[in-house]
Amino acid sequence: MKHPAAMRWGRKDTPPQLEYRPYGLALNRSPSQGGEPKKTDIMRDHYYVTTPIYYVNDRPHIGHAYTSVACDALARYMRLDGRRVKFLTGTDEHGQKIEKTAKAQHITPQELVDSVSVSFREMTGLLNLSNDDFIRTTEERHKRSVQAVWKRLEASGDIYLGKYAGWYAVRDEAFYAESELIDGKAPSGAEVEWVEEPSYFFRLSAWRERLLKFYEENPGFVMPASRFNEVKRFVEGGLQDLSVSRTSFSWGVPVPGDEAHVMYVWFDALVNYLTATGYPDANEGEFWPADLHMVGKDILRFHAVYWPAFLLSAGIAPPKRVFAHGWWTIEGEKMSKSLGNAIAPGELVEQYGVDQTRYFLLREVPFGNDGNFAREAMVRRINSELANNIGNLAQRTLSMIAKHCEGSVPVYHEPAFTPEDRALLERVLVTSEKTAAEMREAMESCRFQEALSGIVEAASKANEYIDAMAPWKLKKENPERMESVLYVLAESLRGIAIMLQPFIPDSAGRLLDLLAVPQDKRMFAHLHADGPEKPADIPHALKPGTPLPAPVGIFPRIAEEKAA
Ligand code: MSP
Repeated sequence: MKHPAAMRWGRKDTPPQLEYRPYGLALNRSPSQGGEPKKTDIMRDHYYVTTPIYYVNDRPHIGHAYTSVACDALARYMRLDGRRVKFLTGTDEHGQKIEKTAKAQHITPQELVDSVSVSFREMTGLLNLSNDDFIRTTEERHKRSVQAVWKRLEASGDIYLGKYAGWYAVRDEAFYAESELIDGKAPSGAEVEWVEEPSYFFRLSAWRERLLKFYEENPGFVMPASRFNEVKRFVEGGLQDLSVSRTSFSWGVPVPGDEAHVMYVWFDALVNYLTATGYPDANEGEFWPADLHMVGKDILRFHAVYWPAFLLSAGIAPPKRVFAHGWWTIEGEKMSKSLGNAIAPGELVEQYGVDQTRYFLLREVPFGNDGNFAREAMVRRINSELANNIGNLAQRTLSMIAKHCEGSVPVYHEPAFTPEDRALLERVLVTSEKTAAEMREAMESCRFQEALSGIVEAASKANEYIDAMAPWKLKKENPERMESVLYVLAESLRGIAIMLQPFIPDSAGRLLDLLAVPQDKRMFAHLHADGPEKPADIPHALKPGTPLPAPVGIFPRIAEEKAA
């Protein structure tokens, strides 16, 4: 195959017709390689994202999977966007709820936490999570860290000994004021019990103004904005001192200097985010403050009120953001132990595939809203978007290339890209600089659904292009043009696959393998060809003549009856 003359990289005699602004890779460039580092380069360097740590009184279900998959998509996205990422997940293993559950099962709390923690660790494998650490609150590193934070609060004068008398819901591991109860139950519906015991308190009441000031100075601290308003209203309403230790059971981290008390499980749990950065040995470590704590709406108060107050009192920076996502119902019903309708992530993965499960969870509902899980909707999504749209595009393109281009990347022939070619490539690649900027913004504010619908739409455009160009007809009439069309399609697929990686890493990776895209050319910066060193009016990174593996289907259709 002859070398395509049309593939010129920034030749002086062909002024770029589209503005080319490199991004992304520039972040990794040292000053010696390409100019002064921009301030944003430094700001964008690290990214630390966390899931809540899961209680081990329950087996993993779709609610846990949801939070974890969302964090994983973010972590992968940020890595592909050139950032140094730390992604943390783990298990919350202390407290009365765990102690009670163990007792009911006639095992020790340690036996319970050891066995159930494993199932959460297994979930990370099942869902193909790319977490860098898995923390357990029963680990020694964590005990030292919580005790160190406790001592700092004590030193700042925010801890005092008193007596707690009030309501406690073991299921929520939360204290409630009489005025908060609804029909004698917690607002969550959990049973409450009367507790009266000696307790250490955190002087939360003294933090009202400082918290409100912190919120004002950090307008993006809680997302979505409506949730932030709830948090502010709660704090404005006045805060009571918080009981932070218990004496009526022992499954927890002892209070330093007063072993009759174990720390309140939420105090213990929240500190996990800090423990994992190396605290206290490495102070707060290079990844602190966390960029994002992802949580469900039910546990926002702990993260957006108590946690920043503890940290500010300890003289440690609060996290940059807390995002509260919505809840899933199952086929219209609240998920609950009594209904026995919880869905295990393993069940979905086995039935539909890991990427299909990940895709559905992030695609179906705007992140932040509640959603309903229905198998029928899941099958419809998988079939219409993954199989029929993206899968079909890949299948048609790759099988024609295998058949008519000797199984290697086709040549793009002179004259240069036609308006139709340009329109598609601009949508998928060059404008994906715009698309990429939009995607970055969408990802930074956790609008996963929007990011995904942009990619699906790009695939629809490519399918429209293939129909309009009808390369199968060109085979006889104009074989060179057929090759050019297939080249444009292969490039579009490359762009789509790069963008899909954070969401469906395995399938996207296999698609890139089928296009023979090297492992080190799969970053978001590579959307624009080989990177900013080789600016061209239209990026084209695939090298004509590169042999491709035999095409295989990547996005199977799910038979409808399976849905039943
Ligand atoms: N251990 C605490 C978190 C401590 S973080 C310092 C906890 N654990 S949990 O296992 O009960 O819940 C973990 C997460 O799962 C929460 O963010 C919760 O919102 C989420 N979900 C539980 N059920 C859910 C749904 N039905 N739908 C979506 N998410 C749900 O809370």
